[in-house]
Amino acid sequence: MTALTQSVRSLWDSSIGKKTVVAVTGLVFIGFLVAHLIGNLLVFVGEEAFNHYAEWLHGLGHGAAVWVARLVLLGSLVLHVVATVSLTRQNRAARIAYAHEDTLRASKSSKIMIWSGLTVLAFIIFHILHFTVRTDAQLAKIAAESPYQMVIVGFQNWLVVIFYAISMTLLCSHLSHGFSSAFQTLGFSSSKTRSLLDKLGKAYSLLILVGFLSIPISIRIFGYGS
Ligand code: HEM
Repeated sequence: MTALTQSVRSLWDSSIGKKTVVAVTGLVFIGFLVAHLIGNLLVFVGEEAFNHYAEWLHGLGHGAAVWVARLVLLGSLVLHVVATVSLTRQNRAARIAYAHEDTLRASKSSKIMIWSGLTVLAFIIFHILHFTVRTDAQLAKIAAESPYQMVIVGFQNWLVVIFYAISMTLLCSHLSHGFSSAFQTLGFSSSKTRSLLDKLGKAYSLLILVGFLSIPISIRIFGYGS
C-alpha cells in the first residue's frame, strides 16, 4: 500500500473522515440545487428562453461539460450515501452513553435525516428517468421538439405533482439540517456563527422548497403553460 492510499484509508476509517466526505458531497448538491433552480425558473420567462437555456447547457464544451457535471454529481451521490450508511452503522455499534440525551435534544429534521435522505434518493431516481432518460416514449418525443413542453406535459399528472410535493418537503427538511451540519463539520461553525448558520440553512432550504414547488404547482394547479 502506498502512503497516499494508506492515508486515504485511515481517513475513511475515521468518523471525522466520513463526516468530511458527507459534508463536501453535500455542499456539491447545495451548489447544484441553486444552479438547477435558476435554470428551471426560466420556465416562467417562456418557452424560447427555457429551450435556449437547455440547448446552451447541452452544448457547453461541445457537450462534455454536462457529462463532467453528471460524473461529479453521481460520484458525490454515491459517496454521500455510502459514507452516511457507514457512519450510521458505526454510531449504532458504538451506542455511546450520551446518545439518549443527544437524541432528546436533536431537532425533528436531524432525527429524520435518514428517511428524508432515502426519499430524496428515490425522487432523484424517478426524476432522472422522467426528465433525463425519458422512459415515457411520448414525453421523449415532446422533449425532442421542446424541453419546455416536456416540463409542462410532465406535470399534468397529479400523482407526479404529489410525489414532487412530498419529496421537495422532505428535501427541505434534509437541507435545513444538512446545511449547517456541513459547515460545522468543515470547521466554519463557532459558538458565535452557529445560530447564523442555522438561520442561513433554514432560509436556503425554504428558498429551494418554494422555488422548485412553484413550477409543478403553477403548471398543474394554475394551468401555467397550457
Ligand atoms: C420542479 C422541480 C424540478 C424541475 C422542473 C426539474 C427539471 C429537470 C429537467 C428538465 C432535467 C433534465 C435535464 C436534461 O437532461 O437536459 C433535470 C435533470 C436533473 N435534475 Fe431536476 N428538476 C427539478 C427538481 C430537481 C431536484 C429537487 C433535484 C435534486 C434533489 C433535481 C436533480 C436533477 C438531476 C440530478 C438531474 C440530472 C442531470 C442530468 O444528468 O442531466 N431536480 N431536472
